[in-house]
Amino acid sequence: MPCTVTVGGFFGDEGKGKVIAYLAKNDNISIAVRGGVGPNAGHTFVYGGKTHKVRMLPSAVLNLPTKLLIGAGVLIDTEILLDEVKTFAAHNRTLVDRQCGIIEKAHIEKDQGTYLKNRIGTTGSGTGPANADRALRTLRLAKDVHDLSQYIEDVSNSINHALDKNESILVEGTQGTFLSLFHGIYPYVTSRDVCASSICSDVGIGPKRVEEVLVIFKAYVTRVGEGPLDNEVNKEEVGRLGWAEFGSVTGRQRRASPFDMQLAKKAISLNSATQLAVTKLDVLFPESAGVRKFEKLPTESKKFIENIEAETGLKVSLVGTGADVDDIIDRRAMK
Ligand code: IMP
Ligand code: MG
Repeated sequence: MPCTVTVGGFFGDEGKGKVIAYLAKNDNISIAVRGGVGPNAGHTFVYGGKTHKVRMLPSAVLNLPTKLLIGAGVLIDTEILLDEVKTFAAHNRTLVDRQCGIIEKAHIEKDQGTYLKNRIGTTGSGTGPANADRALRTLRLAKDVHDLSQYIEDVSNSINHALDKNESILVEGTQGTFLSLFHGIYPYVTSRDVCASSICSDVGIGPKRVEEVLVIFKAYVTRVGEGPLDNEVNKEEVGRLGWAEFGSVTGRQRRASPFDMQLAKKAISLNSATQLAVTKLDVLFPESAGVRKFEKLPTESKKFIENIEAETGLKVSLVGTGADVDDIIDRRAMK
């Protein structure tokens, strides 16, 4: 699979970080490249009992041979990026496109305003106001930031050259389909489109370069911030079901609802999915926790996955059964 794009199928927080960390480790990925909005996304993965989080670097960060790139469409918070580069000792593997936009203090302050913070419920990370300045063509770019000079690269060029050599590239989308500025539930959306085509554009590849579009769902739906959520379950019930989650960027409790097949179908069509992943199956079916072979899943949990396949006509090729990067059923060989 030389080029795979991964995107979230619901409202973000589908467990993309874990799936990407697994693929990087398992598939001999030479380049992981991040698209999407910017540090408003927090991707989490657990490896060897330790929880890691990235807001700027690709989630492949623990896989040492993998180069870590950030595409031109992504906004950079310089402080957060440099901090992550240090934490993961990624100095020699990190490359940032020269045209990435830069989030300044003033953007973060603007993102705390009543409309954005309270009415929309943004993450407050400054991404919306920075993208507004980008549209106005006043935003500073990465090539003009001294502290980033050692990481600057033409990312689109690097990826296209690597693909010419048939190297494996993993393109990491952030947020989720229904947070798209174009296709989500406006105005309760993020500041850009975040569907697969935009993620490709962020990193500078055309649609013909992509072999697989992996759309990632969670076994139930969550969303943070304001906006509609069909069949929303009340907070008490969320706790009882074991669905309580807290935002990795803001710490806010996520709202939740059961798996939504209609939304899933819409996400599949918006992204032209070629395969699916479903994470956190163990939260719905505790007996499936830690299972790594599909045949070993209890009947109900197997039926849940098979029903998604029957309804969508696509293979659920990866199934998450626990927090650890390796708690996954990889069914790709069965294609
Ligand atoms: P913003 O992207 O910070 O402007 O926030 C706009 C909306 O998108 C809010 O509802 C946020 O909670 C949501 N959002 C943005 N990024 C993420 C993410 O990575 N995961 C989940 N929700 C997100
Ligand atoms: Mg997240």
